[in-house]
Amino acid sequence: MSKPDGKPSITVTKNGPYLVTGGVPIAKQTIVTDREGGSQEWREGEPLPHKESYALCRCGHSNTKPFCDGTHQKVHFDGTETASRDKYREQAQAFEGPTLMLSDVESLCAGARFCDPNGGVWSQAERSDDPQVRRNFLRQVNNCPSGRLVAWERVSGKAVEHARPASIGLVEDPAEGVSGPYWVRGGIPLVAEDGFAYEVRNRMTLCRCGASSNKPFCDGSHVTVKIRDSG
Ligand code: SF4
Ligand code: FES
Repeated sequence: MSKPDGKPSITVTKNGPYLVTGGVPIAKQTIVTDREGGSQEWREGEPLPHKESYALCRCGHSNTKPFCDGTHQKVHFDGTETASRDKYREQAQAFEGPTLMLSDVESLCAGARFCDPNGGVWSQAERSDDPQVRRNFLRQVNNCPSGRLVAWERVSGKAVEHARPASIGLVEDPAEGVSGPYWVRGGIPLVAEDGFAYEVRNRMTLCRCGASSNKPFCDGSHVTVKIRDSG
């Protein structure tokens, strides 16, 4: 593994991989479920050896996953970016509670299900004046890998985001028997193939199976495609 120099960034290439620069650490991130099957927490795996800059497969066909081996050319991968370029807040639906507010952009959902336990975060927002409900709500929302869900303090109007170091997770979802998206943490800038700079967000999930209809973001299609790829 090389030492980081330069700022972390991710660039989407035309019908090809994500180019990652800045020595961003990468490790498996597995969804841990409770007895009822509810998503409870993340378990981080060993860091993967990587270079200062590396190319991550986004077609789903590389033989050297998660890294690109050029197979995208053989399979004629169509990686056209179709996601909205509007800012998160412009796309979000708001759910007001007594002390906290929840914002929600459903098209970003990666299907990791941290929102479901304890009655669901939408109902928790309405009961956020109860300290236990508030704790669960903030934990569950911050575990939402895609950043579909964001919690806000009503009085200050500030987002309640847990600090996350710049890093990339390879999502594993044993309950569904699939590998999931790249979980990009810590506000790493993301640049489109045409040079557009997507809004910087603390949590994002990028498609790695090649099947998302909301590229470059994950839309949960890996569950249908049943991709297993990080060993
Ligand atoms: S990505 Fe977020 S909103 Fe979608 S299922 Fe997971 S926790 Fe819920
Ligand atoms: S993007 Fe290059 S092999 Fe998948």
